[in-house]
Amino acid sequence: MNYNKKSIEDIEVAGKRVLCRCDFNVPTKEGKITSDKRIVAALPTIEYLIEKGAKVILCSHMGKPKGEWKPELSLKIVADRLSELLGKEVIMASDVAGEDSKAKAASLKDGDVMLLENTRYIKGETKNDPELSKALAELADVFVNDAFGAAHRAHSSTSGVADYLPAVSGYLVQKEVSIMGKALANPERPFVAILGGAKVSDKLNVINNLLEKVDTLIIGGGMAYTFLAAQGYTVGKSLVDNEKLDYCKEMMAKAKAKGVNLLLPVDTAVAASFPSPIDAEIPVEYVDCTAIPTDQMGLDIGPKACAEFAAAAKAAKTVVWNGPMGVFENPTLAKGTIAVAQALADSDAVTIVGGGDSAAACEQLGFADKITHISTGGGASLEFLEGLELPGIACLEDK
Ligand code: 3PG
Repeated sequence: MNYNKKSIEDIEVAGKRVLCRCDFNVPTKEGKITSDKRIVAALPTIEYLIEKGAKVILCSHMGKPKGEWKPELSLKIVADRLSELLGKEVIMASDVAGEDSKAKAASLKDGDVMLLENTRYIKGETKNDPELSKALAELADVFVNDAFGAAHRAHSSTSGVADYLPAVSGYLVQKEVSIMGKALANPERPFVAILGGAKVSDKLNVINNLLEKVDTLIIGGGMAYTFLAAQGYTVGKSLVDNEKLDYCKEMMAKAKAKGVNLLLPVDTAVAASFPSPIDAEIPVEYVDCTAIPTDQMGLDIGPKACAEFAAAAKAAKTVVWNGPMGVFENPTLAKGTIAVAQALADSDAVTIVGGGDSAAACEQLGFADKITHISTGGGASLEFLEGLELPGIACLEDK
């Protein structure tokens, strides 16, 4: 896919109405934002547009309201936080591209900022309905996509609207694409990828694609047990995706044929059952992966695996990490994930963390500023690693 797209700096925005798609899908608890990372990540583009005298019309989805007007998924809390961060009023529209948005967009002055309501309040959004795309386009003269986290969605506000307006990228999309694109296309070697997460089936294409590019592929987390089972080991009550055993064998053969060092955990934390609730205190033992007792399940990588994975990360020049090494919501079973986050923080390599759980782990541990790039995308960064075309980027004008 061609990532050489025009950006906000390649077009005239002064005095123009600019519809800017952001990913303001922020986590909330009891009506409060628990991480404003995605809002902060959108600031460079918004500030540039304000400074250049554009009339800025922001839009985003939040959660999955599926066409229903759910008040708890209103973007009003985002408008309030954004207003604090920008130090200026953010005008909140009460609809998505309806009468209120039209009236407010029409009366914007240069440098004003407004935010539309949750785009997923409208059913057509996730269906990429041309009616909604057109209605959004009619609010503006130019479309800027800065929602990397939603770039894997072919929705009206992420790609459909680009059929009706000149469309360019914002700084966040540009940054994500250039850092991750370079790592995949032209990495400094050794290039190590560390993949975790519960299910092999979530990472099928990522594993396949990364085997074409990396020198070492490390597999931890729940999916490691399916690989271990495919090697013929007994993994007790560990999570095993029996339908993917052949796939794992195929990937191990591919790694061998390509000379890729495929590392699986040599030891693991085991317990009699999955913790319930997930953060409950739980007695664990550490055993070699060749000797997992039949009545136990593997729930995290063990200390030997931690040391081996950390050594590989330290020796690398580029490291990409996506997915936790164990049940990291549980303090006893978070050790593997913490060890990998620590290894990336200590490494001199270019370190890239794909969003979601591994990004949250780095942030919670306070390592975020020691990582070269933490993606704002969860599903989007995974699809990027799969080598898939992201519709929210494909729709932008080529340079
Ligand atoms: C995300 O949180 O990964 C993005 O905002 C996309 O959200 P979605 O998975 O609901 O499309």
